[in-house]
Amino acid sequence: MTSERKRILTGVRPTGALHLGHYVGALENWIRLQEEYECYFLIADYQVSDHADQIRDLHRQVHEVALDWLAVGLDPERSHYVIESMVPEHAELTTWLSWFVGLGRLQRNPTLKSEMADLEAAGSDAIPVAFFTYPIMQVANILLPKAHLVPTGEDQAPHIEMTREVARRFNRLFEREVFPIPDGLVGRVPRLVGLDGNAKMSKSIGNTIDLKDDAETVTQKVRGMFTDPTRLRATDPGHVEGNPVFMYHDAFNPNVDEVNDLKERYLVGKVGDVEVKTKLAAALNAFLDPIRERRAHFESHPALVREALAAGTDQARAVGRETMAEVRSAMQVDYL
Ligand code: TRP
Repeated sequence: MTSERKRILTGVRPTGALHLGHYVGALENWIRLQEEYECYFLIADYQVSDHADQIRDLHRQVHEVALDWLAVGLDPERSHYVIESMVPEHAELTTWLSWFVGLGRLQRNPTLKSEMADLEAAGSDAIPVAFFTYPIMQVANILLPKAHLVPTGEDQAPHIEMTREVARRFNRLFEREVFPIPDGLVGRVPRLVGLDGNAKMSKSIGNTIDLKDDAETVTQKVRGMFTDPTRLRATDPGHVEGNPVFMYHDAFNPNVDEVNDLKERYLVGKVGDVEVKTKLAAALNAFLDPIRERRAHFESHPALVREALAAGTDQARAVGRETMAEVRSAMQVDYL
């Protein structure tokens, strides 16, 4: 089922529940772009090498990602759900492409650099080689289906830049336009603040609202959210700018009049945090309700989840085999 539509390849590492940051940073784009592009959504299990001791959790985590995707409306009838390690061409292409990425180039990749620094700070005495080289596999992930567009969160931009370099180098070296030069695309809110006001919502920090959180959990989390630290009483004038509660209102509350009214009153000390948060929790729960409903449906139909993963992975293999044949022919390593 190859189509004439341009292709998207994007994905996540299966390390835990998807959250609101994933939604506005990337998923929202993916949902919208399914109409226009043939989409490959990758569950990058090969790239969880920093959690080798938890490899037994991968099985569950892969299915959890698929459930979150089904819940938000990534449609497996139109798009392909791909399990990375079940498409061996990813490993094959990674091996060849490793020839075209310099050690120094990899060491200068800012996302990789900061992730390795975090791992070291967390006391990891030996970063696996697979972790150091994962950006090359990410390049292979993108080039294998010859993607034109890679919508992700902003932290992935350095990997996309590397992909563009490798694709150009390969095409030039072998004098063939084997790979399109892919563009990146970052979502409406490139980096959603955490509940605690930390610059980034992240599972490892523990400051997330997950797409599968129930209404009570969301209400509790919102109640505990960081707001304006300079404001002690509801009658003190407050700050809206940089205030996480209002950033979430802007991102998730479709009732603009309500949000503007709250902001105006907040600035002059005419509304308490309780009202602002109660309205935020209501908006978030209204946003999450349909996602929860779809999730419940697929949780009770595990065969559908499995089918989505199997069909998409099969399709990715078919495309992967085609690309590898072209790669081998371009490199003249099709010996027999
Ligand atoms: N590295 C990405 C992340 O941390 C996941 C990923 C793997 C990916 N391969 C990809 C993203 C290819 C975009 C394209 O979430």
